[in-house]
Amino acid sequence: MSVLLCVLLLCTQTFGLEELTVMSGRDATLHLGCSDGEVTLIEWTRSDLQPLKYVFLYRNARSYANYQNPGYRGRVELRNPEIKDGDVSITVKNVSVDDAGLYKCRTIVKENGNSTEFRKDINLRVTDSGESEGQTSSLVWDKENEDEENKVEEKSEAAKSEEGKSEEGKSDERKSEEGKSENSVALIAGVSVTVGIVCVGIIVLVLSKKRNDSKKSVPSEANYNLI
Ligand SMILES: *[C@@H]1O[C@H](CO)[C@@H](O)[C@H](O)[C@H]1NC(C)=O
Ligand SMILES: *[C@@H]1O[C@H](CO)[C@@H](O)[C@H](O)[C@H]1NC(C)=O
Repeated sequence: MSVLLCVLLLCTQTFGLEELTVMSGRDATLHLGCSDGEVTLIEWTRSDLQPLKYVFLYRNARSYANYQNPGYRGRVELRNPEIKDGDVSITVKNVSVDDAGLYKCRTIVKENGNSTEFRKDINLRVTDSGESEGQTSSLVWDKENEDEENKVEEKSEAAKSEEGKSEEGKSDERKSEEGKSENSVALIAGVSVTVGIVCVGIIVLVLSKKRNDSKKSVPSEANYNLI
């Protein structure tokens, strides 16, 4: 029963294959943004690496250099060390042509007792360049890609809890509609009161003017009675 529950709660979100081209000697940032929550696992792997396939491994709130492929030790770090807002992107420093390959990320985020698994594949291509090393990664690519990533993420999330969300959405709609009608009732009431006050004011003015007029013209009892 609990196993079934675990399976049900462990949703998987898969992002499509992404292509990334970086010049040799630069830093490559492999992007993955998941939902905000407690990140319990981050695995960046390259299945063609022997004997250790891990490019980066993070578990139990720490990274494990001893599981990491020796070629990546000391060269890989989380772009956002606090893993804020579900950012599990890594930066591989000073890439060489040997770093080219298919990188797979698998990460698990716990949120309100629900675990969600995120997966993403990134194909890294490294171009040879005559430029010296130590340059920063292509920021233009980063920015464009981040936008795309966010779009994909939104789509996946929508698909993930389509039913739940549409239910929520409906009730939200209902709420907002109720809110609207409440607001319009209040508005109508307010307008009515204002109109009422203005009317009373006008009537009072008219009456007092007429009284004054009648006082001036014919201050007789008969005229008072006419009004
Ligand atoms: C970058 O990597 C190359 C080998 O691929 C190495 O010769 C060079 O010293 C490295 N540069 C830095 C700044 O680590
Ligand atoms: C798990 O997520 C669903 C919607 O995605 C939510 O309704 C439910 O309350 C969550 N479970 C827990 C234990 O918070």
